[in-house]
Amino acid sequence: MKVVLSLGGSMVMQDFNAERIKAYAEAIEKIASKHTVFVVVGGGKIARNYITTARKLGADETLCDYMGIGVTRLNAMLLASAIKKAPKVIPEDFRQAYELSLSHPVVIMGGTFPGHTTDATAALLAEFVNADVLLNATSVNGVYSADPRKDPNAVRYDRIKAKELVKIVSAGETKAGSSNVIDLLAAKVIERSGIKTVVFLGEPENIEKAIRGDVEEIGTVVE
Ligand code: UTP
Repeated sequence: MKVVLSLGGSMVMQDFNAERIKAYAEAIEKIASKHTVFVVVGGGKIARNYITTARKLGADETLCDYMGIGVTRLNAMLLASAIKKAPKVIPEDFRQAYELSLSHPVVIMGGTFPGHTTDATAALLAEFVNADVLLNATSVNGVYSADPRKDPNAVRYDRIKAKELVKIVSAGETKAGSSNVIDLLAAKVIERSGIKTVVFLGEPENIEKAIRGDVEEIGTVVE
């Protein structure tokens, strides 16, 4: 299978903990022994720090996005350094990523262009390479009817239609560095291309379960 994994920066980069990055690298190497894997790494806290400070200094949203992209690429380089079979080159667009996948079982990249988060990058990449599944590793255990941190009545879905996902995330904000379970553009790309998507609590040990669609308690299948 062809698998695209959107790996939130806040999941993999927690305080530059090398052991944690290694745990992700091992989980990715394991799935790459059976599948062709593309990983899109997010920016996490460091990206948000750049964006918040740049905004205070007068940077426009697009410039903030470019800073976020820069951090995602650095994070991608860090993760790639722990995966022997990953190329040292971090692709800057989807065609480059596709080319590298022809000679590598796993390709790691960061963001591409301004206006969205790495969730959308991963969804567009999944569309471009005709992936069998898109895995969205986040800090929550799936898609809720509303933000569970703000609404105590929010309910978690085991399965959801892409159209419904678009409706839920449309209520969130789209500024640089904003956090939503998945970004709106990603949800729209998933809807238009019908890519099977799994949104799940992105701990390393959950990645294999997410590929199997075995997401009880850990996530939501979008179809
Ligand atoms: P992230 O994908 O990390 O956003 O990109 P996030 O929502 O903070 O996700 P987590 O916390 O890592 O899970 C960081 C920022 O980089 C810019 C956006 O401003 C985004 O908010 N970015 C990223 C782009 O403009 N284009 C891209 O392709 C990727």
